[in-house]
Amino acid sequence: MGFETADDAGVYRLNDRQSLVLTVDFFTPIVDDPYTFGQIAAANALSDIYAMGAEPLTALSICCFPIKELPPPVFTEMLKGGMEKIHEAGAALVGGHSVEDKELKLGFAVTGIVDNDKIVTNAGAQAGDRLVLTKPLGVGIITTALKSGKLTKEMIDRVSAVMTTLNKEAARAMVKHGAHAATDITGYGLMGHALEMARASGVALEFWASQVPYISEAKTFAQKGYITGGEKRNLDFVKKSLTKEGEIHDYHINILFDPQTSGGLLIAVASDKAEDLLKELQATGTGEASLIGRVTGKSEGTLILKG
Ligand code: CO
Ligand code: CO
Repeated sequence: MGFETADDAGVYRLNDRQSLVLTVDFFTPIVDDPYTFGQIAAANALSDIYAMGAEPLTALSICCFPIKELPPPVFTEMLKGGMEKIHEAGAALVGGHSVEDKELKLGFAVTGIVDNDKIVTNAGAQAGDRLVLTKPLGVGIITTALKSGKLTKEMIDRVSAVMTTLNKEAARAMVKHGAHAATDITGYGLMGHALEMARASGVALEFWASQVPYISEAKTFAQKGYITGGEKRNLDFVKKSLTKEGEIHDYHINILFDPQTSGGLLIAVASDKAEDLLKELQATGTGEASLIGRVTGKSEGTLILKG
C-alpha cells in the first residue's frame, strides 16, 4: 500500500485475488494481571488487521522479560491470555521470541489475509459519509488512575473488558456494509487517528462531542487530573487542523485526545448504510457503537469539533 497514508498495517499483494496484511505491536503492562495483559496485547495487535477488513491467520509473540525479577508463571499466564484471544480470532500462534530485559514488554506480530476488493484503508472516506465509533473511549485516563491505585475491582474489570474485546465482529460488519474507510483508535487518540484519516482521504471530518461514547468513570477521573502525557502530544499534533464550534467541555477534550490501548474502529460509511451498520454492530456484541459525526467535504485534512 505504500507508507504515505500512515495506514494501520502493511499490505502485500499475493495475486489478483488476495493480499497479506502484516503488523506488529508491543508494549509494557497496563494492568497487573498477567493473563489479562496477554489478552490485551493480543487484541491490540490483532486490531490493525481488523482495521483493514482482513482476517488474521497467524501470530508470533514478542516478549521482553525481567527473568531475575518476575517468576516464570507470569510469562506462562501472559502467553495463555494472548493465546486465548488469538484462538478467538481464528488465528494460530505459530512461534515467537523472548529476550531478557529490565522492563516487561509483550506483543505480537500478526499476519492476516484479505480479498483485494475488500481492503479497507484510512484513505477512502467520502463527503456525506457517517462516522461510527465501535468502542467507548477513556482507557488512557482510567489506566492512569489505575496506576495510582484509584480503581475498584469493578472498574478494573470494566476497562479490561473494553481492551480485551476483539474488533473481529466490528470488522466483519463494516466489510459487509461496504465501509469506505476505517482505522483503529490507539495511541494518537480518536482525534489523532481521525486526522490521519482526514489527511489520507482528503476530507474534513466533523465530530459531535456529546455523541462520543466513553467509559463513564473517565469523566470524573479526567476532572480530577488523571490524564496521560500522550494527551498533550495528541493535542499538539492535531491543533493546527482543528476548528471548534459551540461549547465543548474540558473533559470532552481529555477524552477525545486520550491515547487508547486496543481501542475500537472508527468507520466511515455511506449515510444510507449507517443505520444498518449500527444495528448489526449492536446485535453482534458491539453494544456501545455510536454514530459520532460525518464527513463534510473535500479538504487537505481538517477536523471540526462541535459541542
Ligand atoms: Co492501528
Ligand atoms: Co498499531
